[in-house]
Amino acid sequence: MTRSFYRKYNSSIHFIFLISALAFNMPAAFTQSADTVYYRKTFTGEEITRGERLFYGLAYPADRAVNCSKCHNTIVSDTLNWNPDAQVISIQYKSKSALDLSNVLLKPTGKKMVEVHKGFQLTPEDITLIKAFMDKFSDIGLSPHKPVITNLFFFILASFLFLLAVTDLIITKRIKVKPLHYSILAITTVYIVAVLAVDAIRLGRTRSYAPDQPIKFSHAVHAGQNKTDCIYCHSYAHSSKVAGIPPVNVCMNCHLLVRSGTRSGTSEISKIYKSHDNNLPVRWIKVHNLPDHVFFSHAQHTVAGGIACSECHGKAEQMNIIVQISDLSMGWCINCHRLKKTSFRTNRFFTEYREINDSIKAGMIDTVTVEMLGGTECAKCHY
Ligand code: HEC
Ligand code: HEC
Ligand code: HEC
Ligand code: HEC
Ligand code: HEC
Ligand code: HEC
Repeated sequence: MTRSFYRKYNSSIHFIFLISALAFNMPAAFTQSADTVYYRKTFTGEEITRGERLFYGLAYPADRAVNCSKCHNTIVSDTLNWNPDAQVISIQYKSKSALDLSNVLLKPTGKKMVEVHKGFQLTPEDITLIKAFMDKFSDIGLSPHKPVITNLFFFILASFLFLLAVTDLIITKRIKVKPLHYSILAITTVYIVAVLAVDAIRLGRTRSYAPDQPIKFSHAVHAGQNKTDCIYCHSYAHSSKVAGIPPVNVCMNCHLLVRSGTRSGTSEISKIYKSHDNNLPVRWIKVHNLPDHVFFSHAQHTVAGGIACSECHGKAEQMNIIVQISDLSMGWCINCHRLKKTSFRTNRFFTEYREINDSIKAGMIDTVTVEMLGGTECAKCHY
């Protein structure tokens, strides 16, 4: 029965198939150049490599190439890069399509975006491959600052030559030309000492510790350029043990209106809104860290001691990234306490020190250091 039915209407069924096949494929055939390219899902290794070359601006001659990595770092950087790094944009766009990427590259909106994504000559095909590379990059992440393998190799080589020269000079005595030994010893010694010195300085790294923060917040922009007072944000520095890091509400006081920055566009400031809207505090990384067994109070130093922030923290208003400039060692605290003259006579805080006040009146002492008030007694700083 089915077979005879099929034989009877054979030609018309074919016809219907033909028509519907055409009907479904026609629009796709017309828009092939744009949309379907953007929605490709699988790529060969070669295509991803081409995407990578496009991202690094290597696929076209210099006058046409766009080097995305010039602005979007692919390696960890020591200095502040205001542009979002390659990993950040890759993760941000992982759930989006190549068409979204095309829009932000070829039809940018927003003041900053228009300024930086300008005149890119990229085809839909190019953008799709760049997107394929970015998807892969979101898993790879940024490369560390610099490889140390070659340094290590030269260090071992120098040490080996040094030992060889010493051994031959004193024990084996194979080579008779002594100046050769001496020059090898001189050169390798200088090299080894130099390498060790550089590494030793790096070991005390916490002194210039300056981690990347979750938002590229700059003191140079806020405390410097906009002259916002330290206490506006670090509101407890005059009244409490800790200075305090401002909650996101404080940022919102201004950023409700300031929606875009000169250097970073909207990419960084939008993180403030995300944190505010989702009620998630920004996870700032603490730069200065004293061990738990040490007692330190900001109020005591800034008010009673009358010490400026900059004496301990350096010129914060010039820093894009906060750097720890003091080593926070016990020696650092004690040194200042030994030398620092307090504003004993003028500061009402000190009137309770009767004995010392009497000595001043009697003309026995002229100035009062922190040490004279007991500032080097163990129990003052240790719990
Ligand atoms: C007293 C006002 C004020 C407060 C408070 C404030 N900002 Fe800003 N911020 C500004 C202004 C003004 C700019 C624009 C500077 C420019 O474009 O030169 C800015 C710019 C920025 C930028 C972009 C910088 C650039 O040039 O691209 C970031 C990021 C930023 N602020 C983060 C924060 C964070 C995080 C907080 C809270 C801890 C905060 N701000 C609190 C006034 C403020
Ligand atoms: C001259 C520097 C510069 C170059 C070159 C550049 N970008 Fe950007 N890009 C930026 C800046 C700055 C932003 C952030 C702007 C903002 O948020 O207002 C950005 C933002 C982005 C974003 C995030 C957009 C969003 O929706 O927030 C993506 C994705 C991106 N760029 C991809 C690329 C790709 C791919 C290339 C290479 C074809 C490229 N960029 C080249 C500076 C650059
Ligand atoms: C607009 C708000 C704002 C102003 C104004 C401001 N700061 Fe900050 N400060 C912050 C934020 C946010 C952080 C945390 C992120 C960071 O370390 O950069 C911070 C961090 C710091 C730190 C490092 C804290 C740690 O983790 O150990 C020091 C030190 C500091 N500020 C000193 C200053 C001084 C000094 C001034 C005045 C010259 C100042 N700040 C003005 C917002 C501000
Ligand atoms: C006598 C030195 C000294 C002075 C002056 C000083 N600080 Fe500090 N500051 C420190 C030390 C030490 C720490 C680390 C404290 C800790 O880890 O408990 C610190 C930590 C901080 C922190 C991060 C931790 C916290 O307390 O919230 C901020 C922010 C800060 N200081 C801001 C300021 C500001 C703003 C001023 C000026 C009003 C200032 N400091 C004055 C020594 C000083
Ligand atoms: C730049 C100088 C300076 C540095 C650095 C400094 N202090 Fe002080 N400190 C002072 C002055 C000035 C006073 C006097 C204020 C007072 O007597 O209350 C003081 C007072 C104190 C007191 C109270 C002493 C008392 O007699 O009650 C303590 C505790 C203290 N400092 C701890 C520390 C610790 C801990 C550090 C290091 C992490 C430190 N200070 C670093 C200047 C400094
Ligand atoms: C002015 C403040 C101050 C005074 C006074 C002080 N200390 Fe300390 N001490 C510190 C600080 C700050 C550290 C943490 C230094 C560090 O981690 O490098 C510390 C660390 C130490 C440590 C641990 C050392 C280590 O390497 O972790 C010992 C032990 C110690 N102090 C003993 C003493 C004794 C004993 C006295 C009295 C003679 C004393 N301290 C007086 C500030 C002080």
